[in-house]
Amino acid sequence: MNISFMAIRTENGLEILDQTKLPNKSEWMKLEGIDQVCEAIVMLRVRGAPLIAVAATAFMIQAFDQGISVDTALEYADRLSKTRPTAVNLFHALRIIKNALKNEGIEAAKNAAEKYLQKEIDIHQKLTKIGAHQLQNGSRVLTHCNTGSLATVCDGTALGVIKVAHQQGKKIKVYVDETRPLLQGARLTCYELEKSGIEYELICDSMAAWLMKQQKVDSVWVGADRIANNGDAANKIGSYGLAVQAKHHGIPYYVVAPSTTFDFDCESGKSIEIEQRDPNEVRGYVGASMVWAPKEAGVFNPAFDVIDADLYTAIVCEQGIVETSKLTKLGLKAI
Ligand code: MRU
Repeated sequence: MNISFMAIRTENGLEILDQTKLPNKSEWMKLEGIDQVCEAIVMLRVRGAPLIAVAATAFMIQAFDQGISVDTALEYADRLSKTRPTAVNLFHALRIIKNALKNEGIEAAKNAAEKYLQKEIDIHQKLTKIGAHQLQNGSRVLTHCNTGSLATVCDGTALGVIKVAHQQGKKIKVYVDETRPLLQGARLTCYELEKSGIEYELICDSMAAWLMKQQKVDSVWVGADRIANNGDAANKIGSYGLAVQAKHHGIPYYVVAPSTTFDFDCESGKSIEIEQRDPNEVRGYVGASMVWAPKEAGVFNPAFDVIDADLYTAIVCEQGIVETSKLTKLGLKAI
């Protein structure tokens, strides 16, 4: 099974669009061994919760085709699981592959991996259509980080909803948070919105609350890296702050995610591991080797935060719209 999307393709081996170079350079990079794949995930050359899992799965399929043993495959899965801790999609994909490997062997694991990829594609196509119903002609939306084709397969999650609404002929205006420290909003979301011909304005993260106060935002749309059973949702750092601001201003806030982002084993957001990243990402801009803080400045650099379920309006997933206020004690397991 070959796949071909904006940021990943497999016709000639596993290739990813190196997202650290965007938007200035579109460079495809061939990932040939486990070291290279792990490096690409850790350095965010390939990123976004769904796409990390897809890249790892596509790599495993390639390795199965090359004839690796069960032991090597298990070792690869173990290496991949140590790359980034927060997004749960990767762990779901690896669990499916590992179970098949242990119980039935290589061929079954390859089938399970291909099934995972196909399901992921189908799910994304479904959830963007569901979300697009929530957007009216003339909607002005705010989004954070990058949740489009560069983070997923197909059109994306939150950004995918916006793209589908635009494809349906609705006029949508998007405010894009730049998303410090790694600027996924400024570099990647703006790139995708330009390609799609959707009207947008880039803002610094600190401008969002003021924009809301000016009544310029009708709704907020973000993705998620892991959603605990009670609805608490981990997403790019800054998402929690936006939810507090949106609630204060009475603005609906949607978290768009495939069910492969749900973690039923996590009771609440308290047990979600938050990735801490290199302090230099905050002292300056790593990609351009630009430093504006003292070299040894103490730094707090969590890559994600957790939006409490009672702070946001609803999860948009392939099963429909799940209003967080209607979640029972059983949580997401019950939907
Ligand atoms: O650190 P990143 O760029 O991988 O973080 C990405 C996000 O936080 C996205 O919002 C999330 O993965 C959802 S993408 C559909």
